[in-house]
Amino acid sequence: MTELVVRRLLIDMQAPISRHWCGGDAFRTALFNALSMSFPVGEQFFIDSVRNGFKALPEDKQESLRAEIEGFIGQEATHRRLHALYNGHLEKLGLVNEWAPRALRQQKLLEGIDPRHAVGITAANEHFTAILANWLLHNPDLLGTEDPRLATLWLWHSCEESEHKSTAFDLYQALGGNHEWRIVWFRRITKIFLVDTLRQTVNNLRRDGTLWKWSTWKSAASYLFGKRGLIRLTYEPWRDYLRPDFHPSQQDASISRRWLAEHRKQYSIVGAPA
Ligand SMILES: [Fe+2]
Ligand SMILES: [Fe+2]
Repeated sequence: MTELVVRRLLIDMQAPISRHWCGGDAFRTALFNALSMSFPVGEQFFIDSVRNGFKALPEDKQESLRAEIEGFIGQEATHRRLHALYNGHLEKLGLVNEWAPRALRQQKLLEGIDPRHAVGITAANEHFTAILANWLLHNPDLLGTEDPRLATLWLWHSCEESEHKSTAFDLYQALGGNHEWRIVWFRRITKIFLVDTLRQTVNNLRRDGTLWKWSTWKSAASYLFGKRGLIRLTYEPWRDYLRPDFHPSQQDASISRRWLAEHRKQYSIVGAPA
């Protein structure tokens, strides 16, 4: 069991966000902004799935998971609140979130079915966020120096994703979820996640007026497929999920523990004595 605490990030989300806050790079900015646009709706879905899954557990199995589930919900609720403020600034920049309404329509299709499906979907998404988080924590300079507040937000969020990466997976197992469905959902979520990320990134670039600039495509090629490219470096950890004996805890999380220890002044712990 992982002990999860809820942290309050000490950053000012009222100050506006600049157009190319991420190292002055239009592509990277559009990509991170696209991911942020998916979080409030996505993370609310994870919270609801885990909450419903927990309720479906027999009482004798609930106790051992209760604290971790509460921590998970607290962490995701904090993420979605800060990303909603972040997304408010993006709206003012003229960007339009088309991912969130599409995700809400997809979520409606799951209403009334076995809660293990939603937990399996959440576990698949959580694997995605955990490997993205690990990539980002190993390459923090990609966030640039223009907006240290947003760099902190992304790295803190990454640490907590890494920290709670086993929660939905363990709940899925406790509910008797099987390997076949775990893989079915993982493959589906992979397609949905990649297509939605791409669509929203392109949409952001189009509205930003930078979609057809050579520098945008050069940056996309480098940061997706280059030496430190997102797709190149996350393929192996992505594939691990397919193994029948996979467990999220097998993936190293030491870098997130280190970041949290080294940046203790940038957050307070909710419920800790002042
Ligand atoms: Fe999150
Ligand atoms: Fe998460």
